[in-house]
Amino acid sequence: MDLKEKIDKNSLPAHVAVIMDGNGRWAQKKGNQRIFGHKNGVKAVRDTVEGAAELGIKYLTLYAFSTENWNRPKKEVDALMSLLISTINSETDTLIKNNVRLLTIGDITGLPSGVSKNLKELISKTSNNTGLSLVLALNYSSRWEIVNAVKGIVAEYQDNPIEISKITNEFFEKYLNTKDIPDPDLLIRTSGEYRISNFLVWQIAYTELYFTEVLWPDFRRNHLFEAIINFQKRERRFGKTSEQVN
Ligand code: FPP
Repeated sequence: MDLKEKIDKNSLPAHVAVIMDGNGRWAQKKGNQRIFGHKNGVKAVRDTVEGAAELGIKYLTLYAFSTENWNRPKKEVDALMSLLISTINSETDTLIKNNVRLLTIGDITGLPSGVSKNLKELISKTSNNTGLSLVLALNYSSRWEIVNAVKGIVAEYQDNPIEISKITNEFFEKYLNTKDIPDPDLLIRTSGEYRISNFLVWQIAYTELYFTEVLWPDFRRNHLFEAIINFQKRERRFGKTSEQVN
């Protein structure tokens, strides 16, 4: 029985988020430059997106570039930006053909103009697609997102102070980049690191976490299926007791 058949299609995670880690170590283990790892990471992205789409997952969020990644050597940052442009261009037809809708979270205006222009075009071309929503986190970090939300609230209410009792979780979430996206049910991090690294900190309050030793360039849809099978064995209690949720 292949792995996919072990998945209960009636209790799929609606939203899977992934911290794609280990590209640099994968390349270095092979005696190559770090960018070789990122290039091979694109193959893992492609297979994971296809696997998620074929299962019927609604949202897949990939942490592609954090606000802290600007601190990497310029050569690596430039290479990552070029890789983003070439991947957006080479994958456009496939995304459209497979009914995938592209979304982004993060400060897209802070990306090089070539990247943001290509992204905006692809977002617009895929906006009516109804299959998988592929969310790329680019120039993203949770602390940036939360501070940005506070700025948005202050800007909107500075001349017309809001009643404090109106500030609820639901109110605040409307100012986050993820306002129309459900919270992740499952968060996967590759490469054996056990950190969140400033990713979706607000949104993962009740997300199931899954860590694997696999380095991102080696990650394939079967690894995604393994994570989902593991997820489906868990009891999600959302603060209640086991008796209450059963
Ligand atoms: C983390 O590995 C990976 C990144 C910071 C970049 C992820 C980018 C890609 C997979 C390629 C482009 C993506 C898309 C969506 C087209 P690392 O470099 O931190 O690895 P290390 O921890 O081994 O050094």
